[in-house]
Amino acid sequence: MSVGAILLAAGRGERLGLGSKKALVTLAGRPLFAWPLEALERVAAIAAIVVVGPARALREALPEGSGTRVVAFCEGGSERQDSVRRGLAALPPECDTVAVHDAARALVTPELIARSVADALAAGAAIAAIPLADTVKRVTLGAIDGTVPRAGLWCAQTPQVFRRDWLEEAHARATGVATDDAALLEAIGRPVRITPGDPLNFKITTPGDLALAEAWLCTRDSRA
Ligand code: CTP
Ligand code: MG
Repeated sequence: MSVGAILLAAGRGERLGLGSKKALVTLAGRPLFAWPLEALERVAAIAAIVVVGPARALREALPEGSGTRVVAFCEGGSERQDSVRRGLAALPPECDTVAVHDAARALVTPELIARSVADALAAGAAIAAIPLADTVKRVTLGAIDGTVPRAGLWCAQTPQVFRRDWLEEAHARATGVATDDAALLEAIGRPVRITPGDPLNFKITTPGDLALAEAWLCTRDSRA
């Protein structure tokens, strides 16, 4: 039994609007993707990591001493789903469990990754998620149509960890574009467990998110 990880860093970062790839922007003194990579490398159960993105630039930006468990850098595809598929193809054959993580969730902790992996090893599939905190409105043209009952609604995060054969089957049978891997497993009827996630594991999408992540890392590191 061996666990591999796919770190997705191939997005364009259009909503961040900085003109460079999101994975390579500087966050608290390091390239953004180095933070989630370090978290993955701190999880003892993860034996191999594939980083998906602009391979040469990522390799060159890797901080000294990091990337010791990276077995491959590979180029991404046009949709996130294509990038996952490419990462899967580059993962060593002995990895029978796969943790997929968005590099944009740069503040992920080794603890959350380890809990998601443990849940997936027990159940076959587990994703980090948090219950919805806000009241949800359906809106058309700036006016409210209705309130969506919040009970039972969760926000999906990554890591998302799966038996490799389930994830490969889900991708092979995918009929459209999904925004996460769990949706592909749901579509083929595989049960997916929830691992309680972390509000700090938010996806860095906008300049405001980047500023928040920077502030958090500076606070955390000055406390350490
Ligand atoms: N991603 C990827 N390949 C793609 C698209 C996205 O590997 N073709 C990755 C991103 O690098 C990110 C994660 O999927 O870590 C979630 O995507 P998102 O937050 O949407 O990032 P971007 O696509 O880079 O941002 P934007 O949509 O604003 O361009
Ligand atoms: Mg995107």
